[in-house]
Amino acid sequence: MEFIKLNISYKKHIALITLNRPKELNALNLQLMGELRDTLKALDDNDEVRVIVLTGNEKAFAAGADIKQMAGKTAIDMLNVDQFSTWDQIKKTKKPIIAAVSGFALGGGCELAMTCDMIVASESAKFGQPEIKIGVMPGAGGTQRLTRAIGKAKAMEMVLTGKFIGAEEAEKYGLINKVVPVEMYLDAAIELAEQIAELSPVAVKLAKESVNRTFETHLDEGLHFERKNFYLTFASEDQTEGMNAFIDKRKPEFKGK
Ligand code: CAA
Repeated sequence: MEFIKLNISYKKHIALITLNRPKELNALNLQLMGELRDTLKALDDNDEVRVIVLTGNEKAFAAGADIKQMAGKTAIDMLNVDQFSTWDQIKKTKKPIIAAVSGFALGGGCELAMTCDMIVASESAKFGQPEIKIGVMPGAGGTQRLTRAIGKAKAMEMVLTGKFIGAEEAEKYGLINKVVPVEMYLDAAIELAEQIAELSPVAVKLAKESVNRTFETHLDEGLHFERKNFYLTFASEDQTEGMNAFIDKRKPEFKGK
């Protein structure tokens, strides 16, 4: 892989994916997104991995889809290449993905972070959907996920003016989970991943699926879905282990079975 670095801590069950196109501020070209799709698919199939952390570098998480790669394309080229179809794997990934964001998270970069399950940001992070400034609009979920995350008024302002917001503001609006000093953002994301990786992978997957269902359906259907997933956790050894450990007053050992 050219534009993705992968480190797996088997002891901690955590995979760290680093976007690695620093000179272009991690602009998300077709190859990078293809590599990310393949990596996520492989990690989702790897029983040793329980949580995935996705990061860039201090200056940029990602400054958007690759404008240079798209500039000369026609609408038919865009339809035929359907570049955002590679993004479907992010949403399909069953294991939790935590975005560790520093610097620019713009356009597709903001959309990529929002497609993850949680966002930990450095104080220098800047979020925005500036596509409008180059004569287009968000195309990888920005109009939908940003609006669901921060509400219509602020999302409309960001999408229609292209203005960026800083990490503090993003936290205030509920777009991100936490803001930490720049030197700590990756460690903070990994710490959050470690907390989740200690829990039952079966329950974690079902819980993630149930929370995400909120965005796909109405309340009755969502509650029904949640209830079935709750009952399904009782098919796992982790449920027996978790409940018995509570009763025995000891730390549970979850195996993902
Ligand atoms: N695509 C391609 N190349 C990009 C890029 C992008 N999205 N963002 C930055 N780069 C490249 C620059 O062209 C530059 O390359 P060269 O050195 O070869 O000229 C290099 O990265 C460094 O960028 P800058 O010199 O511009 O750095 P800066 O610090 O002055 O500015 C910035 C940083 C404000 C992020 C600025 O680069 C910028 O505005 N980038 C574009 C942001 C944008 O519009 N993103 C949306 C893209 S469209 C999209 O994402 C659609 C979608 O919904 C998926």
